Amino acid sequence: MYAENVKWGLLLDLFSFLGSNALSPRLDNGLALTPPMGWNSYNHYSCSPNESIIHSNAQALVDFGLDTLGYHYVTIDCGWTLPNRTANGTLTWSPERFPNGYPAMGEFIHSLGLGFGVYSDGGVQMCMTGDPVQTGSLGYEQIDAATFTSWGADLLKYDNCFSDAALDYPDVSYTPSTSPQPHYISMSAAVTAQPRPMIFQICDWGVDFPSLWAPDLGNTWRITNDITGVWSTIPRILNQAVPQTSFAGPGHWLDLDMLQVGNDIFTVEEEKTHFTTWAILKSPLTIGGALKDSYTIMSEASLAILSNEDVISYNQDSLGVAASLKRKWTEEGYEVWAGPLSGERMVIALINWMDVERNLTLDFPVVGIQKAGTLKDVWGNVTQEDVVTSYESTIGAHGVMLLEVGNLTAEGIYDVSDATISEDGTTATFSQIYGLTTSSNYTAQFSFPTNTTDTTVVVNSISYKLACNSTMLTIPLSLSASSQNILSVNPPPKTLQITAPGSNLYPSTLFTTLTGNATETSCLTDLCQPVGSKISFLGGPTSNTASAIITVPSAGNGTAGTGHKYVEVYFCNNDIALATSWTTGTNTRNLTIGVNGVVTRIEVPLAGRSSELFSPGKGWMDTGIFGVLLDGWKEGENEVVVGNVGGEMDVQSWAADFVGLGVVW
Ligand SMILES: *[C@@H]1O[C@H](CO)[C@@H](O)[C@H](O)[C@H]1NC(C)=O
Ligand SMILES: *[C@@H]1O[C@H](CO)[C@@H](O)[C@H](O)[C@H]1NC(C)=O
Ligand SMILES: *[C@@H]1O[C@H](CO)[C@@H](O)[C@H](O)[C@H]1NC(C)=O
Ligand SMILES: *[C@@H]1O[C@H](CO)[C@@H](O)[C@H](O)[C@H]1NC(C)=O
Ligand SMILES: *[C@@H]1O[C@H](CO)[C@@H](O)[C@H](O)[C@H]1NC(C)=O
Ligand SMILES: *[C@@H]1O[C@H](CO)[C@@H](O)[C@H](O)[C@H]1NC(C)=O
Ligand SMILES: *[C@@H]1O[C@H](CO)[C@@H](O)[C@H](O)[C@H]1NC(C)=O
Ligand SMILES: *[C@@H]1O[C@H](CO)[C@@H](O)[C@H](O)[C@H]1NC(C)=O
Ligand SMILES: *[C@@H]1O[C@H](CO)[C@@H](O)[C@H](O)[C@H]1NC(C)=O
Ligand SMILES: *[C@@H]1O[C@H](CO)[C@@H](O)[C@H](O)[C@H]1NC(C)=O
Ligand SMILES: *[C@@H]1O[C@H](CO)[C@@H](O)[C@H](O)[C@H]1NC(C)=O
Ligand SMILES: *[C@@H]1O[C@H](CO)[C@@H](O)[C@H](O)[C@H]1NC(C)=O
Repeated sequence: MYAENVKWGLLLDLFSFLGSNALSPRLDNGLALTPPMGWNSYNHYSCSPNESIIHSNAQALVDFGLDTLGYHYVTIDCGWTLPNRTANGTLTWSPERFPNGYPAMGEFIHSLGLGFGVYSDGGVQMCMTGDPVQTGSLGYEQIDAATFTSWGADLLKYDNCFSDAALDYPDVSYTPSTSPQPHYISMSAAVTAQPRPMIFQICDWGVDFPSLWAPDLGNTWRITNDITGVWSTIPRILNQAVPQTSFAGPGHWLDLDMLQVGNDIFTVEEEKTHFTTWAILKSPLTIGGALKDSYTIMSEASLAILSNEDVISYNQDSLGVAASLKRKWTEEGYEVWAGPLSGERMVIALINWMDVERNLTLDFPVVGIQKAGTLKDVWGNVTQEDVVTSYESTIGAHGVMLLEVGNLTAEGIYDVSDATISEDGTTATFSQIYGLTTSSNYTAQFSFPTNTTDTTVVVNSISYKLACNSTMLTIPLSLSASSQNILSVNPPPKTLQITAPGSNLYPSTLFTTLTGNATETSCLTDLCQPVGSKISFLGGPTSNTASAIITVPSAGNGTAGTGHKYVEVYFCNNDIALATSWTTGTNTRNLTIGVNGVVTRIEVPLAGRSSELFSPGKGWMDTGIFGVLLDGWKEGENEVVVGNVGGEMDVQSWAADFVGLGVVW
């Protein structure tokens, strides 16, 4: 159990997860060491592909030079089959749609230097409603894998329709009574047994949290329900990806679904955001637009986005680490994702969720760095050197700032070269000192040149004595939550290192004043970490709350705009948008935190890292940590209230469940 005010180390990642991180073994077929790239018929042509469509799009992949950029696999999705198997039990193509047959299609695609992707389904029928129904692969895995091999297939996308035996095989079942996993085990084994290497793409729409079992069976697995034709599909998918990005790696990738770039759904800025995030999360990059057919040709703007070599290089980077969410500003409408690249570089994306163009600032410490020796703003077409603390740019409505940074300095470390030196050489002014939280409990450590003769150091008008013969000085420091703090130092130090204040975790068990249905619920062993219990039924139609008195050692003065403290909200949310993905589903829940009456709303993504159907806590006992700056603090006692104020009439009035609050002093 937690004693009150347990000292809790500040997490390095501002957005992170506690709990199961068990990685299963990996399928090792030597394929997809970087995410597969290509084209697929479904997003544009639905379940109605045909030979001329595939010919013209495959040809366009080559004619537009996309093949040389890495787009390799041409996959024909649902709608290619005859309804029934042949007399000897094999699947076969529709001769109306593919008059020259699938083997000839494979040869054509191969003759272009491309890979041939085929499609089937682990149920009794394929995903194609209406008449006539098309038979699926369930029970025919060996035969079908052998047939695909004989046709020269290089990739198999394997869907999940009509697969729930217990419910008598409905079209889709998001809550099957048994996992779809066995269907993928059968087909994975059948594919792996073939002499021809074939990428295996698992497509069970994220049912039963495949990140825990799919890496062992396939090269990619879908983590969400289908991408749709509305902008809200992008944040919905990203909010589901948030807790799972660490499951990606060479040979096994989270599939965020096929791209909608070029389908005349999104604005150019939206297409950039969509393509950027899919790329840096290391999703397969599967073009889902019509490149060229008898009616249409993809726009130059969309082709330019799909052809951006920088973005593709981040997706195909040899390190193979997916970017993760670093921080989300809910009311302010933006968020930051980042991940490492080979060559000790980093890629960073800042998404503007608002409907208007804005100038937004990326504070480097949010991604763990203080300075970038090199910086490339990909969509802004800007390169800079020695950028300190932050970078600002104009981002269109729903657009993205995409940065590649290198020669990095760790967060909190400043060099004299980052400062302005006064004309007489006596004073260095650092004008971009970053404060995570408003506090007088920072520590600054200066090192001075070894030949310094000064024994008195003046920092922001306060004098300190250097210890005898020492070239180091360590002092407490006050900073506000901003990247614009100023520090003048006489004489100029060589280096400066700033350490953030400590933090306390206030567990949900301290929030003893509960209203309405709000309930403290104890969790199963090792769940709801690090507290072991959580408060459920916050918010709701009657706005239930939980409150506590929290004492902090130093603060701003409690007026709106001055009493800023960085806190980490420990929460549980596994309200997955599966059936609701077509309409209102967002994969988020709101939670409000009031500090002395100043209320801040956060919209938290999913935190579940275990099966939503079969794990003991159904993913509702996996903890996520959401970093946010809360206004309203004063030194001493503060009344803190969690709930979902103002959400009574929302689509989802219930708040996320609350595990605890980590407050950085
Ligand atoms: C293939 O699809 C295209 C576009 O829908 C259509 O114009 C064409 O007639 C179809 N061809 C065949 C053989 O079905
Ligand atoms: C396909 O098989 C089903 C069931 O055996 C049968 O009822 C149907 O007539 C067959 N369809 C065709 C087009 O042969
Ligand atoms: C099964 O029948 C199909 C079509 O009649 C034929 O193309 C295929 O070669 C046969 N497969 C085997 C294994 O005999
Ligand atoms: C962004 O900043 C530039 C330069 O300061 C300014 O001209 C422009 O109006 C700003 N744009 C917005 C949307 O605020
Ligand atoms: C990296 O940046 C430092 C300054 O921060 C500079 O001295 C050094 O030359 C840079 N190195 C490279 C390889 O650019
Ligand atoms: C990017 O900037 C360079 C140099 O300023 C310029 O030559 C180039 O045309 C720009 N590219 C784009 C795509 O705007
Ligand atoms: C925080 O700083 C204040 C003075 O600024 C000091 O009184 C207090 O002891 C410090 N608290 C901690 C926990 O370091
Ligand atoms: C200390 O050494 C540096 C370079 O080694 C020199 O520029 C500076 O003037 C010296 N300062 C003193 C006080 O001797
Ligand atoms: C200071 O440094 C000088 C020269 O290195 C040395 O002689 C002296 O003993 C040192 N004093 C102390 C208190 O360490
Ligand atoms: C609170 O719980 C009771 C009993 O389960 C239920 O009848 C009531 O509707 C709940 N109230 C809210 C606001 O959910
Ligand atoms: C307290 O509030 C006043 C007025 O808003 C502000 O000027 C002052 O800087 C604040 N003090 C602290 C310690 O934040
Ligand atoms: C969260 O609150 C915002 C603002 O009130 C609202 O638009 C949104 O729908 C809420 N989210 C959910 C999941 O209800």
